[in-house]
Amino acid sequence: MASIPFTAAGSNSFPATLTDSNESGHVKYGISFNKGLSSGRPNINMRDLTVTSVATRPPMVVTSPAKKPVDERKLAAWTSIQQERWEGELVVEGKIPSWLRGTYLRNGPGMWHIGEYNFRHLFDGYATLVRLHFENGGLIAGHRQIESDAYKAAMKNKKLCYREFSEAPKPENFLSYVGEVANLFSGASLTDNANTGVVRLGDGRVVCLTETIKGSIEINPNTLETIGKFEYRDNLGGLIHSAHPVVTGSEMLTLLPDLVKPGYVVVRMEAGTNERKVIGRVNCRGGPAPGWVHSFPVTEHYIIVPEMSLRVGRFRVPLDGRPNGKLEAALDPDQHGRGMDMCSINPAYLGKKYRYVYACGAQRPCNFPNTLTKIDLVEKTAKNWHDEGAVPSEPFFVARPGATDEDDGVVISMISDKNGEGYALLLDGSTFEEIARAKFPYGLPYGLHGCWVPKK
Ligand SMILES: [Fe+2]
Repeated sequence: MASIPFTAAGSNSFPATLTDSNESGHVKYGISFNKGLSSGRPNINMRDLTVTSVATRPPMVVTSPAKKPVDERKLAAWTSIQQERWEGELVVEGKIPSWLRGTYLRNGPGMWHIGEYNFRHLFDGYATLVRLHFENGGLIAGHRQIESDAYKAAMKNKKLCYREFSEAPKPENFLSYVGEVANLFSGASLTDNANTGVVRLGDGRVVCLTETIKGSIEINPNTLETIGKFEYRDNLGGLIHSAHPVVTGSEMLTLLPDLVKPGYVVVRMEAGTNERKVIGRVNCRGGPAPGWVHSFPVTEHYIIVPEMSLRVGRFRVPLDGRPNGKLEAALDPDQHGRGMDMCSINPAYLGKKYRYVYACGAQRPCNFPNTLTKIDLVEKTAKNWHDEGAVPSEPFFVARPGATDEDDGVVISMISDKNGEGYALLLDGSTFEEIARAKFPYGLPYGLHGCWVPKK
């Protein structure tokens, strides 16, 4: 691990099966008219839902083409979403705090099929942005596919057209193969499927991201409409960056692996600009190629550049008998389950000393994170939320306005449930007990990272 000093300081039209409902209300869905769902249709036809007149903008209700019968027992987490978009008001069980005003956005791969073809890897899925808008104790929810070039090309041509995480388009002949190799080195064939994270920049723009730099796409947080590519107006070039920039109200910090002169370039982009400026650089110490930098930590005075073993172009597995290093855990792993992913903190404590960590833990025998956990690094204890058969996504903390305690707020998570169902979940940030949940009319696929857009 290396460190460097850090001085702080067009809309795309959708070509396929969209149907503009032109209705004056939006779809309201919830437990009160839940019969269709409980009778066993994870992907229900939106025409079966009641349309109510409410004073919000007209929705775009999208119906999917005729589908094969769906296996009712499927866990929604790994089930490809069937509609390109949906919006509706959810019926809430419990009580949403009246102070919670704003929009939670969660990005992730949610559509793993092109026509009849199904992707095989989680990360290949086309980006599905989920939205929860909280206001006056109510919840309006929805989702929409991000209209990247890769997504639009796949929908138009009914085949894979860009190089995704684990799959590449099949060359039709030798010349096509040669062209594909050239496109790989120029980056032209790399995907822009921004399916990993979503960040709100200090100037209010909201950008969806993945590891390819071209996969930076600005969206409208109110409509989830794809505005267009987020263009970096500098001369830094490169093909990839960290999928997890560190974003504050004044700047965005990120790492650019340098494939030409192996190393890592640390850059800062001030809010309100599209220009990244170099603030430091470290050379590779562990090999001739930079590692895959998914994320990196920041302290008050330093940016930490981790050298990961997963390297661009090859994967190194130690098979020479070297003993494993010693792993020191912050607390007994049985407190949160043996497995952990999707860690987050109160965003106000970014770069500062924090006490609480929220994460997805794993209660065995499940081999995938199936628990939400709140870790107290001082007391070395954890509080857990677990519901049999449910797969939660990254817990996201939203502080109560005026709060002084670090954990005074709520934790939001999206739950992919058994039997093809899904719901939004709200936990108390302090007690970590459930305070509200709201069921979606369809199963929510597993998702990755989110952000919060406060109501102005
Ligand atoms: Fe991540």
